[in-house]
Amino acid sequence: MAGDANRSRQFRQVCGRFATGVTVILTEAEDGHIHGMTANAFMSVSLEPLLIAVAVHRHGRMAQLMSRPDCTFTLSMLSHQQQHVAEAYAHSDRLPSAEHWEWPRASGPPVIGQAQAWMRCRVDHVTDAGDHLLVVSQALAFQADTSRTPLVFYGGRYWEYLERQGDWADDWLLLER
Ligand SMILES: Cc1cc2nc3c(=O)[nH]c(=O)nc-3n(C[C@H](O)[C@H](O)[C@H](O)COP(=O)(O)O)c2cc1C
Repeated sequence: MAGDANRSRQFRQVCGRFATGVTVILTEAEDGHIHGMTANAFMSVSLEPLLIAVAVHRHGRMAQLMSRPDCTFTLSMLSHQQQHVAEAYAHSDRLPSAEHWEWPRASGPPVIGQAQAWMRCRVDHVTDAGDHLLVVSQALAFQADTSRTPLVFYGGRYWEYLERQGDWADDWLLLER
């Protein structure tokens, strides 16, 4: 119904006012293929134990893969030059592209090279949440490169934060899509 569509659009618009970083989740399918998905619905959940959560569309391939028992995956927090990487993992017809990957350890899924931070995680439990699954996961290993700045998603667009020296004020730069 038109009323429902309007309400849903308004809800998305309001939620879109919450500025987030942009992550790419990578996991290994049964046949060895690496499957990736762009996600901004990420949050840290607990320090004891170390838990994070991501909301994943329930009818997608990633939801299927993350519902496997003990699924492990990596979550890379993109840096501001990586808008093209975010776009590369945001479409269901995409092909895996090894050019983006780095392996922090010999086995398991890769991380996105030149990301500003990454985590390796194991799914702890999955909760139904409407048309999404809330995937709560243990953080097994993690690393940040503090010299990099984040890619930011806000109002349905990508932004970069510029911290300038001297007379220049700090500023936000809208990145063209
Ligand atoms: C900036 C951005 C953030 C996104 N965040 C999410 C998210 O948090 N959860 C989700 O399910 N899809 C999100 N998407 C959409 C998925 O990346 C996209 O639907 C993808 O094709 C789903 O992959 P799948 O088919 O493997 O499930 C986002 C897309 C973009 C561009």
